[in-house]
Amino acid sequence: MDVLVIGATGKSGRPVVDALVARGAKVRAASRTPGAAAPGAEPVRFDWDDRSTWRPALEGAEGLYVVGPVRQSEPELLMHQLLDDADGIRRVVLLSVLGADRLPSLVPMAGWEHDLRMSGREWTVLRPNWFQQNFGEGFAGPLRERGVLELPAGEAALSFVDTRDVGEVAAVALTSGGHGGQVYELTGPSALTHGEALSALGRADGRDLRYVPQEPAAFAAALRGRGVAERSVEWQLALFRLMREGGNAVVTSTVREVTGRPARSFLAYAEGA
Ligand SMILES: NC(=O)c1ccc[n+]([C@@H]2O[C@H](COP(=O)([O-])OP(=O)(O)OC[C@H]3O[C@@H](n4cnc5c(N)ncnc54)[C@H](OP(=O)(O)O)[C@@H]3O)[C@@H](O)[C@H]2O)c1
Repeated sequence: MDVLVIGATGKSGRPVVDALVARGAKVRAASRTPGAAAPGAEPVRFDWDDRSTWRPALEGAEGLYVVGPVRQSEPELLMHQLLDDADGIRRVVLLSVLGADRLPSLVPMAGWEHDLRMSGREWTVLRPNWFQQNFGEGFAGPLRERGVLELPAGEAALSFVDTRDVGEVAAVALTSGGHGGQVYELTGPSALTHGEALSALGRADGRDLRYVPQEPAAFAAALRGRGVAERSVEWQLALFRLMREGGNAVVTSTVREVTGRPARSFLAYAEGA
């Protein structure tokens, strides 16, 4: 199976590429800066903002893993156009997000899921919980500079998922049958708060790391200050509201059922396992 991975250099795309290569798939790793592709994969250029890059990237691929265009102003339209262009693709795994079904008019991922279902292709939707790897990448700056992470997450517990598990589930769904028409909610094996997660990381690293609950309005103001589009501010606020209401505490057995191995724990991630 020849698979195109869009978003291949990101937190979820990298482990998807690794897991596909390990399963013997021929992988094309697509991003705007394809030089950074993983070993064993062919780097290709793909830019959501430059449609001339789409067809060359899709050429010859039968499988597609897609991280959608979250920073673009018309994310639903772009996904719709990509699925139109991807006429040779027969199997698609879409990265969505846990809770997309509960926020259908707010998050673009809900629209992507709908379009994919209507596309006539064999499809699998992944709805992962928040990634354990956010603590190493997305949150790295504030944690390094101040040892403090501020988010509007309240004291909610989340079953953070390891992106290597997301990658392995995606690779199984892309390279073997029986996963078409499935929506997989992917979580870690237990739920913990951001405070508990930071304590575990701090203990493992010998650092004092703290979580400070942030007011949603302050979070939104910070996003707007960075030039984030209003629509994106709205859906990010909605995801945090869902989290504070307990929507991300659910623990599923899907990683084990699909891969045959237990989901990796946050403690293992913190200890660098
Ligand atoms: N973070 C979480 O906790 C979490 C949890 C569940 C679901 N999700 C979903 O995950 C998605 C984000 O995925 P991720 O965390 O893997 O992303 P990421 O780490 O931010 O990586 C984004 C990837 O997309 C590429 N990219 C960025 N802009 C692009 C463009 N204009 N055209 C083509 N490629 C582009 C990046 O490479 P270049 O910059 O080189 O192009 C990179 O490979 C979102 O849809 C989010 O809803 C995230």
